[in-house]
Amino acid sequence: EQIEKGGYEHFMLKEIHEQPHAIKDTYRGRLRAKEGIIKMAGIDDNLEKFTNASRIIIVACGTSWHAGLVAEYIFENLARIPVEVEYASEFRYRNPVITNNDVVIAISQSGETADTLAAIKLAKEKGAFVFGVCNVVGSSIARETHAGAYTHAGPEIGVASTKAFTTQITVLTLIALKLGKIKGALSNSDYHYHLQELELIPEKVEKALKSDAHIKMVADIYKDAKNCLYLGRGYNFPVALEGALKLKEISYIHAEGYPAAEMKHGPIALIDDQMPVIVIAVNKGHYEKVVSNIEEIKSRSGKIIGIVTEGDTSVKKLADHVIEVPETLESLTPLLTTIPLQLLSYHIAVMLEKNVDQPRNLAKSVTVE
Ligand code: G6P
Repeated sequence: EQIEKGGYEHFMLKEIHEQPHAIKDTYRGRLRAKEGIIKMAGIDDNLEKFTNASRIIIVACGTSWHAGLVAEYIFENLARIPVEVEYASEFRYRNPVITNNDVVIAISQSGETADTLAAIKLAKEKGAFVFGVCNVVGSSIARETHAGAYTHAGPEIGVASTKAFTTQITVLTLIALKLGKIKGALSNSDYHYHLQELELIPEKVEKALKSDAHIKMVADIYKDAKNCLYLGRGYNFPVALEGALKLKEISYIHAEGYPAAEMKHGPIALIDDQMPVIVIAVNKGHYEKVVSNIEEIKSRSGKIIGIVTEGDTSVKKLADHVIEVPETLESLTPLLTTIPLQLLSYHIAVMLEKNVDQPRNLAKSVTVE
């Protein structure tokens, strides 16, 4: 096992650090940025299904569901295709309205999650075209879907999913860019710019990982917190959900993710000087609005940890700590902002002496309902 961990103390830490490579493996052979080409057999062979789709329904569980939520923003913005994201467990029992004009995308690291598998079977019965995004090659979901694309992240052993999440987002971004180009939703220059920036993501993730020592220091300050709030907007709202899930899963600290603007409708009542609030405040999208959310937290004495773009000055003035990530296009920011949140929960769990790779009550693959 020590050899498999490759010198890291835990699989989770190894898998967090594998992300630059894993993301590269995901787009290898698919993304040819210089030529402006995205090649994906599962999409190319079924192009009409996607271009004629009236909408895309994404079904998944857990972290894969969060990747689906990020994909909702990506597909709607880049390809202008309406998207609905569903918990597989709810979808399958809701008698959902599905037609043969719908494309269902099932996202699953293991490819064995029982609820997701059942949702796929239901969607197929109702005539939808079902596309799988799985990590495990030859898994049940990979076999049950009409077509698919593997994430190629390599084996993920830590129960808390890390590299599966960022590689799922990478695959879904490739699909959205390809469809956006074909459907004319993206200008030529925007398309090429996205491809170039996506190709640069692995080295930017590498850079984001360099904040590890600083994040460890922040973890030490907040490790005894009883509750944590995670806030983000737009593309980074699902990242806030995922950050909170990571902390819950491995440190057993209660954490909630919320869209920053919804804070005023409830969570703001929880804020006092005992409440760490992790705010994703990169310099894109709704930056000014997030900064004003941060001011509201500060005026109630909340402790602020800002995830910011390199060189940020406004959040730095307000926050107790900032953790920087490199600059990129707004649609690609989740691939970077996720990294410090993974490391923060990892270090807190280690400091609390929890079983990081095998947290209590959780399983890597949930093959029962
Ligand atoms: C379990 C795992 C999570 C995972 C979820 C969905 O709860 O502990 O890490 O996100 O199942 O798994 P899947 O393999 O379908 O992505």
